Amino acid sequence: MKNKGAEYVWFDGQFVKWEKASVPIMTHSLHYGTAVFEGIRGYGTGNNLFIFRLEDHMKRLRRSASVYNFNSRATTKELCEATVALARKIAIKCSCYIRPLTFVGLHGIDLNVTRDSPTHTVIIIFPFDKYFKAEGIKACVSSWRRIHDGSLPPLAKAAGNYLNSVLATQECRRNGYDESIMLDTQGNVSEASGENIFLVRNNEISVPNLASSALEGITRETAIIIGRKLGYEVKERPIARTELYMSDELFLTGTAAEIVAVTHLDGRPICEGKEGPVTKDIREMYEKIVRGKVDEYMRWVTPIW
Ligand SMILES: Cc1ncc(COP(=O)(O)O)c(C=O)c1O
Repeated sequence: MKNKGAEYVWFDGQFVKWEKASVPIMTHSLHYGTAVFEGIRGYGTGNNLFIFRLEDHMKRLRRSASVYNFNSRATTKELCEATVALARKIAIKCSCYIRPLTFVGLHGIDLNVTRDSPTHTVIIIFPFDKYFKAEGIKACVSSWRRIHDGSLPPLAKAAGNYLNSVLATQECRRNGYDESIMLDTQGNVSEASGENIFLVRNNEISVPNLASSALEGITRETAIIIGRKLGYEVKERPIARTELYMSDELFLTGTAAEIVAVTHLDGRPICEGKEGPVTKDIREMYEKIVRGKVDEYMRWVTPIW
């Protein structure tokens, strides 16, 4: 099985053997995508494991659930405690990916999901390293538009949203790119299939605002805070597609992708095909913070050991 990495998962309050954690074939979310989830990283530092912004991820999980009126059942505190308990139970010390998932269970084929519909939450942890190559990636602007708040809310991290990301990823990989950048329905820059996008021009940083159909990424917020702290001006605003080609630097942010430079866009080199100085500044600070090496941001990391 791909990504198997631990003996146990946490399933509705119990530790369950990975192989035994299964669901009935009529599980609603399997048919209709009625699930919300998170992606969280744990960073192994040799003698400890630090989970990055655990509470913020669990808060977002519950907010995503509330958009669809799913009953989260577990509180943010319980979800955080369950994650720490699971990490200890499976004795994990290496860098890992943490996947909490709240899904609608047996509800028949009726679409009227209410707070009385049965929901379940599972937390899965497995070893995980780099998602993209560190030196930067080649991206394209997708022919697929990002889902829109008027039909499928991009701000809720819901399973069904990712069909849009699957289409964009299939297209970009078929054409030899690493990642796709989608425009919103207005034609402004939205986000990548699983990351937020930033551009740098004349030492000023811009990121699409939340009305551009982008997820309110936790790494996005982290990069905004780091950027401002390092003295850069960071603006959240609508971004026209052509600005991407005219930028000095482009980078993506996401839990899995971390902070990675886009070195080529639609065949055009960005920053001479290399990671630029602003991206490097922010990335290096981010890499220290997530490993619990910056006192000021220790509130963002949860040590396991
Ligand atoms: C569509 C999408 N946008 C942006 C992000 C980045 O969000 P975060 O930084 O919270 O991981 C993700 C990853 O979760 C994503 O799936």
